[in-house]
Formats: sequence, C-alpha cells, structure tokens
Amino acid sequence: MNACLRAVVRTALHEGLRVVGIRRGYAGMLNGEFGDMNHSSVSNIIQFGGTILKTGRSEEFYKPKWRARGAALLKEAGIEGLVAIGGDGTFRGAHDLWTEHKIPIVGVPATIDNDVYGTDCTIGYDSAVNTAVEAIDRIRDTATSHDRLFLVEVMGRQAGFIALEVGAAGGAEMILVPEYEATVQQIYDTIMAGVAQGKTSSIIVVAEGDEEGGALEIARRLRELGAVECRATILGHTQRGGNPTARDRVLASELGAAAVRALLGGEGGKMVGVVSGELVLTPLPETWGKKKPLDKHLYELAGMLAA
Ligand code: F6P
Repeated sequence: MNACLRAVVRTALHEGLRVVGIRRGYAGMLNGEFGDMNHSSVSNIIQFGGTILKTGRSEEFYKPKWRARGAALLKEAGIEGLVAIGGDGTFRGAHDLWTEHKIPIVGVPATIDNDVYGTDCTIGYDSAVNTAVEAIDRIRDTATSHDRLFLVEVMGRQAGFIALEVGAAGGAEMILVPEYEATVQQIYDTIMAGVAQGKTSSIIVVAEGDEEGGALEIARRLRELGAVECRATILGHTQRGGNPTARDRVLASELGAAAVRALLGGEGGKMVGVVSGELVLTPLPETWGKKKPLDKHLYELAGMLAA
C-alpha cells in the first residue's frame, strides 16, 4: 500500500494536482482527518509493508447519513477526486459515495487475499505468498527430521488463492481450498497413500476458509484416524506484514499511477487492474459481484506433481 500511495502522490504532483491524504480510511474521512501531501511525504516508504496513512474499518460508513457527512467533508476540503486503495469493503463504500454523491472515485485493489475480480493480482498477494512459502520451507526441516505431517494454515478469507500458490510453490502434498472441498477421510487416504509409497513427512496447505483455525480441527481428526504424527501451524498475520516483494512494489506503482490518470481522464466508479499484462478499468460492483476463478490447471498440476 505504501508503494501505491507513493505512486498516487507523485503521479498527481507530476500532473500538477494538489494531493490530500486521508488518514485511517473511511473512519478518518468521517473525522475530517485530511492532510496535504507533497513529494517528500512519501519518501523512503516503498520498501515498507502496511500504510503510513493507517487504515481502519468503519461501521458508520455503511449508513447513508454518514456517507453524506463524508461527502460534505470532502467537498469542504476541496477534494474533487478520490483514490480508494483496498478490497471488497473499500470498494463497496467507494461505489456508494460515487453513486450517491457523484464524487469521482477510482479503486486500487489491495488485499493479500487476491479475491477481487478485474485484476490478475491484488497488491499484497505476492508478498503474502512469498512469506508463507518461506515459512513452509522452514517448517519442512522439522517435518523431514521428525517424520511428521504438518498442516499449515494460510489466510485468504473465503478464497483459496494464497493457499493454491503457496502449496504449488512449496511442493505441498495436498492443498485444501474452499473451492474444492475434501473430506477428512480423503485427506487421510491421500496421506496414507504417500506413506505407502515411502513418504515419511508431508505438508498440507490449508486455506483458512470460513473460519480461522480449521487446520487445528483437521489435525485433531487426522490424529483420531491414526495418521502419522501431525502438527498444525497457523501463519496468520505474519502474511500481512514485512517488506513487499519487487513484484508487489511494481504492481502498486503501476496501479497507483493508473488510478490518478483514470481520474484525470474523467473516470469514476471504477477499479484499475492488470489483466493479462494490460491495464484495465472495471466497474466497482463487478469487482465484488463477479467471481475470479481459481486456477484449476495449477490446482491439478500441483496435485499431480505431489502424488
Ligand atoms: O482480507 C485480508 C485478511 O488478512 C484475510 O486474509 C483475513 O481473513 C482477515 O483479513 C483477517 O482480518 P483481521 O486482521 O481483522 O483479523
């Protein structure tokens, strides 16, 4: 997000615009937490995770009367266009602000979950994946030395994008994602088939799905079935911080600059994304209303290579 912010600020300044930063997302907007930003406001931040503007979820922003207050504050501050960096919740709020108050808004997709339609990758996804892959490489040392089965739970909300990429890159024996359900018996059978072939340790990557901590429950049930010695690790928020990868920094720079240019081109109510290498604009409701499919080919390939 910092790399994106840097790109938004510097592109806008380059185009001769005045730039105002809103602290703490919609919550800060409703509080009038605005501050002018200049070239040096975003110096030396491209390498850091998180966002210097901070962020926050706002219950109030779901209500029209609070959005009207937000719009009034924006107009009072002379703000004529908004770049909204975030995921589903951010875009729903942005869409309402655009349709109800005609404030031109362009969204930039930033969530580690990658569950946004209209872009191949969201900002943060690649960094989260690489962090989790590094963790798996470390966990494998214990798994191999102690002949253990590890269930490694990754984030992703209701989507399996992180789990699939991490599982494929980490050479996981199994990848459990909400998009392709597997019963505990099927997991057990797969692990035992590996044991019969001489495998002494395995890694299963588990998408958090509906509820954090599902890996602990699966581990408990596998133990009941008598699987090999088994442990669960939940990577949690380690995936949401740290230095972003080069790929993320470049994506964030491209999208931040594209958002400013879209606003200058008269756009509003859309999200910028990169699809098959091309910058594209997608109407905000489609970003959450249409489902981005999981890569079935990669899922099958990872399964075949691990068997
Ligand atoms: O949407 C990003 C995400 O990290 C999800 O992967 C995860 O389910 C959720 O946010 C965690 O939210 P919180 O930080 O509020 O616990």
